[in-house]
Parts: sequence; C-alpha cells; structure tokens
Amino acid sequence: MVLFFVFYDSNVVAVGNCADINWDEHELGFSPVPTDFMYVMKCAKGDKFSQGSLVPYGNIEISPFAVILNYGQGIFEGLKAYRTEDGRILLFRPEENAQRMKIGADRLCMPSPSIDQFVTAVKQTVLANKRWVPPLEKGTLYIRPLLIGTGASLSLTPAPEYTFLIYCTPVTSYHKSSLNLKVESKFHRAITGSGGTGGIKSVTNYAPVYTAITEAKANGFSDVLFLDSATGKNIEEVSSCNVFVVKDNVISTPETNGAILPGITRKSIIDIALDLGYEVMERTISVEEILVADEVFCTGTAVVVNSVSSVTYKETRAEYKTGAETLSEKLRKTLVGIQTGCVEDKKGWTL
Ligand code: COI
Repeated sequence: MVLFFVFYDSNVVAVGNCADINWDEHELGFSPVPTDFMYVMKCAKGDKFSQGSLVPYGNIEISPFAVILNYGQGIFEGLKAYRTEDGRILLFRPEENAQRMKIGADRLCMPSPSIDQFVTAVKQTVLANKRWVPPLEKGTLYIRPLLIGTGASLSLTPAPEYTFLIYCTPVTSYHKSSLNLKVESKFHRAITGSGGTGGIKSVTNYAPVYTAITEAKANGFSDVLFLDSATGKNIEEVSSCNVFVVKDNVISTPETNGAILPGITRKSIIDIALDLGYEVMERTISVEEILVADEVFCTGTAVVVNSVSSVTYKETRAEYKTGAETLSEKLRKTLVGIQTGCVEDKKGWTL
C-alpha cells in the first residue's frame, strides 16, 4: 500500500488516497465510520472564535457539568463532499450551512464561527480526510459541524466555553427506498410559529421524534410526517427532512415559519424547479391536501431527494407514483448532477 502525505500548516493532514479503501467491502449506509481527522476550535463566552486546528479523529473529553450535556445548548449542521468523475472533490453551498449555524447560535446564546472560518474549517476537514470521499457512485462524505456549549455550569446560564467541532464519515443513502410515511397525530416536532426552535438545527429537536419514529417503524412505516402544533391540521416536516407535494404539476412545500427547518436542499430544489419552469409555492398545506396529491417527496442533505410511496393518516392511506418518470426523480438527478459536477453549475453553488 502506498501512502502519501500532504503538509498543511505544518501538520500532517491527509493520509493516503481513496484508492486505499476497498469501497466494495464497506457496507455504507448512514452510520458512523471513523475517519482520520476532525477539526476543533474553542472559544470562551464573550470572545470570538479565532484559531482552530485539525486533530486525529477520536473521543472528546467533556465535563459532566458541560451545558450541552445538561441543558442541550448545541446546534449542528450537515453537508457533504462529492467526488466528481475525474476525481475532484466538490462542496455544495457550505456558506449556507455557515449562515444557518450563525442564526441557530444567536437563538441559543452562543458565539459562532464566521462564514469564512466555517467554510475554511470544512475545507480543511475534507482535505485531511480526502481518502474517505468515496468515488462517484459509491457514496459521499457526510460532514457534521457541531457547535456546543462545552463549558461547565449548573445553573441555567449560557456555557462559559464553546467548541466548534467538525467530523465526517462516508455515507450512502439515509433511506434505502421510497418512503411510507405515517402522519403523527399525538406528538409534534416543534412549536408552530416563530417562538420555538424548529427552524434551527438545535440538537434538542431530534431526540423528541424517537418515540413517534419507533412506534411508526414497529408498524411497518419508514418515517413520520409531523403536523403543526397549533391546529394539528397542516403538514410541517418529516423527522429528518422537508416535504414537498405535487398536484397538477404545481409543486408546494410548507413555508418556513419558524417551526420548519430552512433546508439547503429544500431551497436548492425550489430554485431548480423554478428554473425548469415549474410553479412552486411555499404555503400552508393541509393533511387533506397531501392525501390527494399526485406525488410527494422529501428533501434534505442526508436524504437528498427521496420519493414517498404512501402517506397514512389515521385510517386513510394515500399512494403516490414513484420511479424514473416522476418529477422528484427529474429534480433529484439535476441536483445530484450539479453536486457531483455532471451537470453545469450555472449558479456557482459548488466549490
Ligand atoms: C441532514 O440531513 O444533514 C440532517 O442533519 C438530518 C439528520 C437527522 C440526519
């Protein structure tokens, strides 16, 4: 085996190349595969993030009093690095993730890295782990930036210290096939309106969906579609992704009203659909409407664009077309084409 090293900031930051890895042996899905390096930058409360560094991937030491562990002061991001046909590596709109992290940090009283610091750190992390970016057709490198209150506090006050950490792992699809969604009538994902945290990637938004997902999976569903908490009549989001409805060639998705995550894939799909000449509406969508849709699909960094084959609400099950001829497949192909350098990136989304 031939190893090569790239020197950056006088640290060894990349080991080997992707040909070192037998991708056919890796059963990639969406689960943790340890890589070589992670990025760490710390900042005291009241200060600005300044200098981070790459360190070998591994466990982190944290005080039991850390505010992230006790009171959930933390947000995360998700983005991917894509291998092109000719072996280059592309990032897709990382500055959008940086911007979203900043908004989430403000909401949770945390300092955040600047857009530039975020994007530079992502690039360094990918470069350091470049052998883990799978070849085109074999997967992508999922990048997970975390911003967490690691300082100790027992009282309900913002942490005295913060850690910005990026780790990454090779992945393939989040879901293996089209989705059978259950509309959840008992639990809600977020408080409807602008007072809650549904519109940011707060870590506290995710574990509360486990009860609903576990029950849905036990009954043969693949995921859960949540309704608004104010009326229980309108669709909001699937546990890990945004949702779109197609009726008579018009594409609709719930408007981001503070409860719904402003997904970067969501935003990109809206732009792609508009460019392709479709009418797209961001609006309130009732559960009755989704049951009479022609097509339904989900979008997210992890799920990409995933078609929905059925939605079940109480006793009613609606089925939708899936497969090569669907609108969602056309949109998915265009998006993935841009992300992997196969379709011209007219908007300058990749770097
Ligand atoms: C992503 O799509 O990147 C997310 O953060 C969703 C997560 C639940 C996997």
